[in-house]
Amino acid sequence: MAFRWKNNLKYENVTPENIWLNRRQILAGATAGAIMAPNFLAAQSLEPTAYEDITSYNNFYEFGTGKGDPAKYAHTLVTDGWEVKIDGMVDNPGTYSLQQLTEGLTEEERIYRFRCVEAWSMIVPWNGFELKDILDKAGVQSGAKYVAFETANRPDEMPGVRFRTLDWPYREGLRLDEAMHPLTMMATGIYGKPIPNQNGAPIRLVVPWKYGFKSIKSIVRITLTDEQPFTSWSDANAREYGFYSNVNPNVDHPRWSQATERTIGGGLFAKRIPTLMFNGYEAEVASLYEGMDLAKFI
Ligand code: MTE
Repeated sequence: MAFRWKNNLKYENVTPENIWLNRRQILAGATAGAIMAPNFLAAQSLEPTAYEDITSYNNFYEFGTGKGDPAKYAHTLVTDGWEVKIDGMVDNPGTYSLQQLTEGLTEEERIYRFRCVEAWSMIVPWNGFELKDILDKAGVQSGAKYVAFETANRPDEMPGVRFRTLDWPYREGLRLDEAMHPLTMMATGIYGKPIPNQNGAPIRLVVPWKYGFKSIKSIVRITLTDEQPFTSWSDANAREYGFYSNVNPNVDHPRWSQATERTIGGGLFAKRIPTLMFNGYEAEVASLYEGMDLAKFI
């Protein structure tokens, strides 16, 4: 087997689950200046928070544009019998069940602890496998240069797609070398449990060195192509969101600086810390972009 990501994260470095689950309330409270006391205190005292008690703050526009909408409505998404279609420039196109996708992988390959530093200074132990594992299974043809992803588009289960906030289905894309990188993960779990629907059940992408919107949720289709694919956010606003969307503190978003972030779990008055190039994965991924002007290819 070729090079595999070696997890150098110790469990003690992992952000406590209840803080992860409450991160948005902490952030919302901190940025709005209005502390949401119960959540904040729960997070501070590290009391375990039951899943049912969690008021999440997510981005999953298929369930509405409000940050609380996914937690409120995503339970209607039916994830049983989920299938992913793999097509385009592959030797083995087809529709695969989740089980088929992971068939043949060892336990270590299928469910291994993975480190991911989210943009909000979080370390989240996603469970899953490398995207490469399923691309190898599909047999990528030599002319393929990009991988396109699509989320389910189910008006009966996803109230948000009845409105044209985005050109549905939600779509994302990676260059093939980015997709094959061992850090690029298909997540099926978090903290050893299935991903909650609002976080992209039953299978989502995690690209740790890119901004959050590249991590497309509830994927039903993966297409190998030789053309740069359509991506929802650059379609909605090309000036603000590029195809690459690498975390880059040196390039401001047109409406805000991207130079710093706030440490989560460090308390409400935690200092802002400098955001790291490629979200801290420079050593692993910088070579993918050698010779590219990253102020131009945003
Ligand atoms: N995937 C789909 N299908 N629809 C979405 O609206 N939002 C993206 C991304 N994936 C989104 C999506 C954005 S903007 C972010 S920040 C992350 O999901 C949020 O993931 P989280 O809620 O698990 O933190």
